[in-house]
Amino acid sequence: MTTRPVAEIADRYRWFAQVEAAGVSPLYEAFAASIAADADVLAFLADLPAGKQQPNLLLAALQYLHGTATSYPELRNWVLEDADRVRTTMLTHATQTNEPARCAALLPLLAGFSEPLTLIEVGASAGLCLYPDRYAYDYGGHLVGGPSPVTLSCELSGPVPVPARVPKVVARMGVDLNPLDPADPDDRAWLHALIWPGHPERRSRLDAALDLAAAEPATMFTGHLLDQLPVAVAAAPAASTTVVFHTAVLAYLSDDDKAAFIALVGGLPVRWISQEGLGVLPAVRDRLPAPAPGDRAQLVLALDGEPVARTAPHGGRLDWLAAT
Ligand SMILES: C[S@@+](CC[C@H](N)C(=O)[O-])C[C@H]1O[C@@H](n2cnc3c(N)ncnc32)[C@H](O)[C@@H]1O
Repeated sequence: MTTRPVAEIADRYRWFAQVEAAGVSPLYEAFAASIAADADVLAFLADLPAGKQQPNLLLAALQYLHGTATSYPELRNWVLEDADRVRTTMLTHATQTNEPARCAALLPLLAGFSEPLTLIEVGASAGLCLYPDRYAYDYGGHLVGGPSPVTLSCELSGPVPVPARVPKVVARMGVDLNPLDPADPDDRAWLHALIWPGHPERRSRLDAALDLAAAEPATMFTGHLLDQLPVAVAAAPAASTTVVFHTAVLAYLSDDDKAAFIALVGGLPVRWISQEGLGVLPAVRDRLPAPAPGDRAQLVLALDGEPVARTAPHGGRLDWLAAT
């Protein structure tokens, strides 16, 4: 088992507190900072495989088992007194946060392709980003699509090509190591546990999007994206534009697998949209203008490898880059 020194785990929790949770979830910011200074909880984490020590995974496991802690002593008690169940939950689950609000960043690009579209999402989780045509959008007061039980609000800056309508989609396919079932109560409970405290709107949006996906299931391929993407592309209906996209996925790949994915997608007859953390795709990052303050916590939206916008990690903000 690959492990990691306690000091590195503490750094990771400090980073999560100061960069990822800061300004988004004050409770998680405080919890992660406290964990980074708690030798007992760090020792619990150090016993887990290196790939199972992330803040998101521990915090989600605790929400899944116990609900949201109201204080750090309560949380630490859950970790130390209920260590077996917390460990088992972390070993049997993964960080699969599925945020349909990320579709508000995808839509302006999707609407620019010739219709109809075949959508293939790699790292789809429960597939909630495969329904951009089923959601309604409020782009700073400019309404697109709908009516829908899910309205995605998104603040804009820069020359965003806000579309007049949503595009026609003829096929939706997802690839995931472990596709989650939108109709399964336990999968739904895990997806809820992955939502950070302080965002009740994300919970209601999740339920509405899961209901919508359960009523119109996407085709899901189980396995590694390198193996399953060619299978999905081969299943795309003729006479459609095939769009391969991924949001918050490639950070889970090794550098070799990432390079293999970029080569694979570049050789397929598809358009390619990525929405990933800064630095996850170095070739995209290197084409960005100088980073702005706070960039480290943002995602970068790119079309066929060219950056077009910065976006908020869980949706709600789209900052289009000025044309160069
Ligand atoms: C953080 S979730 C993002 C889900 C969705 N794209 C979204 O933005 O809401 C990452 C997903 O990628 C999947 N994943 C990670 N590595 C993968 C791989 N090598 N092949 C297929 N799926 C993978 C995980 O199982 C998980 O469901």
